[in-house]
Amino acid sequence: MNAINPAIHVAAASIRLGGVTKSYGRLTVIPRLDVEFRAGEFTVVLGPSGCGKSTLMQMIAGLERVGGGRIVIGEREVQDLEPKERGCAMVFQNYALYPHMTVFDNIAYSLRIAGVTKGERRTRVELVARMLGLTDYLGRKPSQLSGGQRQRVAIGRAIVREPAVLLFDEPLSNLDAQLRHDTRVELAELHRRIGATTVFVTHDQVEAMTLADRILILNKGEIEQYDTPKAIYHNPASVFVAKFIGSPPMNILAVSGDGSVLRLSDGRAIAKCGLKGDFQLGIRPEDVAVDHTGAASALKAHVRYREDLGSHSILAADLAGATVRIITPFGSEAPERSELLLSFPLQRLHLFDAMTGKAIPGAFGAATKDQK
Ligand SMILES: Nc1ncnc2c1ncn2[C@@H]1O[C@H](COP(=O)(O)OP(=O)(O)O)[C@@H](O)[C@H]1O
Ligand SMILES: [Mg+2]
Repeated sequence: MNAINPAIHVAAASIRLGGVTKSYGRLTVIPRLDVEFRAGEFTVVLGPSGCGKSTLMQMIAGLERVGGGRIVIGEREVQDLEPKERGCAMVFQNYALYPHMTVFDNIAYSLRIAGVTKGERRTRVELVARMLGLTDYLGRKPSQLSGGQRQRVAIGRAIVREPAVLLFDEPLSNLDAQLRHDTRVELAELHRRIGATTVFVTHDQVEAMTLADRILILNKGEIEQYDTPKAIYHNPASVFVAKFIGSPPMNILAVSGDGSVLRLSDGRAIAKCGLKGDFQLGIRPEDVAVDHTGAASALKAHVRYREDLGSHSILAADLAGATVRIITPFGSEAPERSELLLSFPLQRLHLFDAMTGKAIPGAFGAATKDQK
């Protein structure tokens, strides 16, 4: 892509949802959603399949009606407007290009419908094609393009009308790993240049972490957490979030507190803590330390298997009936079926309510909050 010419730059608009609900018959998909996607930000909506991500996007775009509530884009209430009146453009997973039209005509289509003159259409399509590296392909049909090129045409078709809001619904899911990566980088670059408020749906946590200014984590149509990637990674608001982000995800262990220490289910003490009751204790695989000093506080664990990934290894160890995954430097000790001493640094621990799964901030003093 041409990084010198700033080309399109739009006046971004915020998107505010107030009390938005949606049901299909007796199935409630969105119980009630209040959220603002800030003007010019790149927001990623992340959540498991079926949690209501596509429904949310389609309600913003106007392809589905809201059950109740308001959607405000910029200063305009849009929930009763036609899709074309909302100033949104949407890119889907299956890019649905017109197969009989050339790349040029696919990108120009919405301009033609909107009555933009032929000369102006050419100027704008060529600009978009330059931004997306499609200049040499304008005369081709979609069938003569690779998957990645077709996806770029779909993106071109969306941005050519200079929408204030760009909506992406899992646009990279059909691409292979390398292309996903490359397109991700291009999208981030494109966002910086166009400046449109962007809402990008995915179930891929790597896309979320790398693209987002802010991540909205949805669970059954409700917000689990809405924050920066860094805050979501370091201060997950719930076990759901903790397990959704990170590879491998955060380790979660059942513990109980007697007011001075937390104990594993086998009775061994794992951490000092002044709370009483049952909890879930979280620690990321890169934060578990392999102890070489034989400190009294270290816990013996049995290494069940080990995966060597080149840059690092992942050990899976049994600890009080649970599996703890540990990221260690590649080629470090601990073969399979050996024993290992593990330590759990207090400032790296996260405590969650055993029943609700919600985080208990400050359970280990202020230290856990310092990682932002
Ligand atoms: N048109 C529809 N009619 C009935 N149920 C639907 C319709 N669209 C989606 N659903 C249901 O709503 C829920 C949320 O779907 P969706 O928004 O597509 O989830 P996601 O995009 O997060 O995978 C799912 O249970 C799905 O089966
Ligand atoms: Mg979907």
